[in-house]
Amino acid sequence: MNIALPTPRIEHALHTDPAHERAALLQGLLQPAARIDSKYFYDNVGCELFTRICELDEYYPTRTEAAIFRSCAEDIAAALPSGAQWIDLGCGDCAKSRLWLEQIHASRLVGVDIAGEFLQSALTGLAACHPHLECIGVVSDFTQRLDLSQVIDERPDAPPVFFYPGSSIGNFTRPDALRLLRSIRSQCGTRGRLLICVDLLKPRDVLEAAYDDALGVTAEFNLNVLEVVNRELDADFSRERFSHRALFDSQHGRIEMHLVAQCDQDVRLSERNLRHFSEGEHVLTEYSHKYSTTEFGAMLAEAGFGRFEVWTDPKDWFGVFLAEPTA
Ligand code: AVI
Repeated sequence: MNIALPTPRIEHALHTDPAHERAALLQGLLQPAARIDSKYFYDNVGCELFTRICELDEYYPTRTEAAIFRSCAEDIAAALPSGAQWIDLGCGDCAKSRLWLEQIHASRLVGVDIAGEFLQSALTGLAACHPHLECIGVVSDFTQRLDLSQVIDERPDAPPVFFYPGSSIGNFTRPDALRLLRSIRSQCGTRGRLLICVDLLKPRDVLEAAYDDALGVTAEFNLNVLEVVNRELDADFSRERFSHRALFDSQHGRIEMHLVAQCDQDVRLSERNLRHFSEGEHVLTEYSHKYSTTEFGAMLAEAGFGRFEVWTDPKDWFGVFLAEPTA
């Protein structure tokens, strides 16, 4: 007997204009201080490399987050509203959500991700394991604009819980991070919550090793972005002529990843644009901001989340914040 599996509802809210995206990428590379947006890391090769990064000895965030989730699961779940609408921002395969859905008896899962096909299959798999859970997918680049007004139900018995794990908030500049937090706050209602994971400040050597590992996986990840740019713009970067650099900027509290030109060179950026890179010139590819619990708490308050609880690991390297809106 064939039993039909429930099909998740998928909403498409991806409003990207490829020509505009290409123009912005080109503009960034033509600036005196060249830069490439870190979203270009994640082609198929980049996604595989990122998975390997998460397993590296030096890259503590993934396993530290998992350890906090494991050891504090009961306390965190007890502080979350039961029956919530669980909103997973950047859900991927929804692996991190699975832990919580049963613990808090979630009534529905809203998975938000930019990769539409992957989202569809992830939610189909999840719906098969949780037949009573309503699963909705939203294909969207929430880092640009977050609008879930079409999918969040205003039900007092099922407040929304926004879940943003992985410390990806660190990849936003501080003003952009604040903008995203405000946008989440505006869609939380008064009973909603935000469960967000944040990488905390720690000694420079630990931070720099995490972004410049001995096996060179992060270097590969960084250099691979040049292949992506070559495809996007029909450029002719040669990755052999650049090297990976990761430095902690203590003034701004952030790791900066750069690609450094190894020699003087001219690079064709597009059909009509040639750019000269001098030996030693940097292309900025990523910021990864690190916060103190006090600073991130203040940012939450500024965004309208007046109360929060935080769970950390024994070394205070990573924080899981549960934020509550100010009435
Ligand atoms: C996705 N994000 C949280 C990672 C980070 O740690 O900032 C991206 C990364 N870049 C290099 N290694 C990991």
